[in-house]
Amino acid sequence: MLEGYAPGYGQDALSMMSSRSAVDRAAFAHPLVEPGACVVDLGCGPGSITASLAPLAKVVGVDIHLPVLPVGSAVDFVAATAYALPFATGSVDVVFSHALFEHLANPGAALTEIRRILRPGGKLALSTSDWSRAKIRPRTANVDAALRGHYLLRRRAGGDPFAGRNVGAWVAAAGFSGITERTRFREDLSYRSLALYVESRLAEALSGPPAKDHDQLTSAARSAWSWTRTAAVGDFHQCWQEVTATR
Ligand SMILES: C[S@@+](CC[C@H](N)C(=O)[O-])C[C@H]1O[C@@H](n2cnc3c(N)ncnc32)[C@H](O)[C@@H]1O
Repeated sequence: MLEGYAPGYGQDALSMMSSRSAVDRAAFAHPLVEPGACVVDLGCGPGSITASLAPLAKVVGVDIHLPVLPVGSAVDFVAATAYALPFATGSVDVVFSHALFEHLANPGAALTEIRRILRPGGKLALSTSDWSRAKIRPRTANVDAALRGHYLLRRRAGGDPFAGRNVGAWVAAAGFSGITERTRFREDLSYRSLALYVESRLAEALSGPPAKDHDQLTSAARSAWSWTRTAAVGDFHQCWQEVTATR
């Protein structure tokens, strides 16, 4: 499977990520971080969560694509893939990762690599979304059809839109112990912004060369168009599965 990254690096995706802060998103990881610890934020994106972990520890943000490097930040940023991390074996105290595993084609390989860089007793803290449990209301036939197109784009890029419900099992299979899991619901976007986001992603996918799922995407894009024009008000709470574990 050729891995891509479905949300892309457009302004809508970047501003959604920039509004995330460590206070809430990384709160489950804070008890694992001892003063002066070496922490890696894997799939750090624009670094908004990474920067707010910095007062606690020495933090390195890692991402396959670093479009915006925060100026004067206390954090180091490194461009690398989750499958080949530029850290010595057993050299890291904590690996934190928010909203990455749902985009990986081979989460098991990434977890093996994380396990390699963690010291014995080192900690893992992953937060992964699960669209199958997201609260989206009202949920008309058009909303469902548009979301199916959205999931198709995720899978086409190699990811798993329902990763949150599997991530605990992946962590166990990679050999971690002391696994804890907790489910959180957050309003990542307003209902209307979600509809506009899904519509724009589908339109962008259709502007490229026709693929084998072109008809399915065209139909989903029509549904997304109807969604954005008929149901402006509603509720969207994304489901986040937070997993902690020990190397
Ligand atoms: C949804 S963003 C999350 C960013 C940030 N952690 C947050 O929650 O705001 C996912 C990030 O993972 C990065 N990414 C995707 N595949 C990756 C890989 N194989 N290795 C490292 N980073 C990857 C993307 O470039 C993107 O910045």
